[in-house]
Amino acid sequence: MTFLSKTLSRVKPSPTIAISTQAAELRAAGRDIIGLSAGEPDFDTPAHIRAAGIRAIEAGHTRYTAVDGIPELKEAICAKFARDNGLSYTPRQVSVGTGGKQVLYNALMATLNPGDEVIIPAPYWVSYPDMVALAGGTPVIVEATLETGFKLTAEALEAAITPRTKWLLFNSPSNPTGAGYGHSELRALTDVLLRHPHVHVMTDDMYEHIAYSGFHFCTPAQVEPGLYDRTLTVNGVSKAYAMTGWRIGYAAGPEALIGAMRKIQSQSTSNPCSISQYAALEALSGPQDVIAEGVAIFQRRRDLVVDALNAIPGIACPRPEGAFYVYPSIHGLIGRKTPQGRVIDSDEAFASALLEDTGVAVVFGAAFGLSPHFRISYAAADDALQQACTRIAAFCASLS
Ligand SMILES: Cc1ncc(COP(=O)(O)O)c(C=O)c1O
Repeated sequence: MTFLSKTLSRVKPSPTIAISTQAAELRAAGRDIIGLSAGEPDFDTPAHIRAAGIRAIEAGHTRYTAVDGIPELKEAICAKFARDNGLSYTPRQVSVGTGGKQVLYNALMATLNPGDEVIIPAPYWVSYPDMVALAGGTPVIVEATLETGFKLTAEALEAAITPRTKWLLFNSPSNPTGAGYGHSELRALTDVLLRHPHVHVMTDDMYEHIAYSGFHFCTPAQVEPGLYDRTLTVNGVSKAYAMTGWRIGYAAGPEALIGAMRKIQSQSTSNPCSISQYAALEALSGPQDVIAEGVAIFQRRRDLVVDALNAIPGIACPRPEGAFYVYPSIHGLIGRKTPQGRVIDSDEAFASALLEDTGVAVVFGAAFGLSPHFRISYAAADDALQQACTRIAAFCASLS
């Protein structure tokens, strides 16, 4: 009898966390490392939100709460969906968890049976396929390449749907590409979904607010009200309000599904941190101008990085609509050699040689299901980004 469960063999550790750890170890060993692998804003949580957390402690909000969120926060989430997305939900349709990650996981655990398929467009957020596998389902990966702006087409979605399809797991703006679906692009997908009433939509809107000029965010249940009853709209405060460590995510959807998710959460973590819930309440209902301030900074950095990368022969980098990632292609560098004789035969080899030779930590594309690419998170200081691009350019120029 083996000690570890069979379930564990279906899951691999998060490659993004592994690279961040490797970079931290090199830094601890005295190397000059520029880490561009972590997916979190480099700003502090805004002062009024931090103050709400402190007030919550002082007011004694330090005990267990209702499993899937305090009523005030659920009301604020309903108000947010009405204000930002034109979606009408009641608190009974809302679930609050320990980060968007737990909310997504709860939903998959609550709905998947062996053999159930979940369509995941690639490149995808690293956790999706593993979460699906952990919940006993089968990830069905559908590639969305550079040619379609990393966006799933209606034809590809249609072709991937089978009688076993339970969910489309959708993410816009996307981690890792930053690609954001405009209204007509999303409409093309929702039209397909309307024809397949057994397919549900789990939309991960975590980067909703990190959207750049010219792009207007929209979400499936808003674009096609006919999908409202089979859509779980997932969001959170981590990225928009620089609150990654507070661990609050939320979702709204059909009451029966929300109840099933509550049941899972009640037997795993119970309520998300009481203090964080009060901070999230302030984030969602307090002043919203902090979002625009962050977005202006990110947009400047996006342009800095995209322009610098596109100036490097062998690299092609689309300009994303949102999030804080770029996902350049290194197609033009595959097969080349480093001065030490290492062959760049994959994006993994590229990222590894780049880290060793220049100290720049990026994540290789294979981790996100589409190669040969790499992901840069530009949630980093301008001078670090500039320095990193200079080092990447020198590294690429050194390849023969
Ligand atoms: C696409 C996407 N969804 C969900 C999450 C989870 O966010 P959190 O659990 O911090 O709310 C992340 C975090 O990196 C993400 O990139």
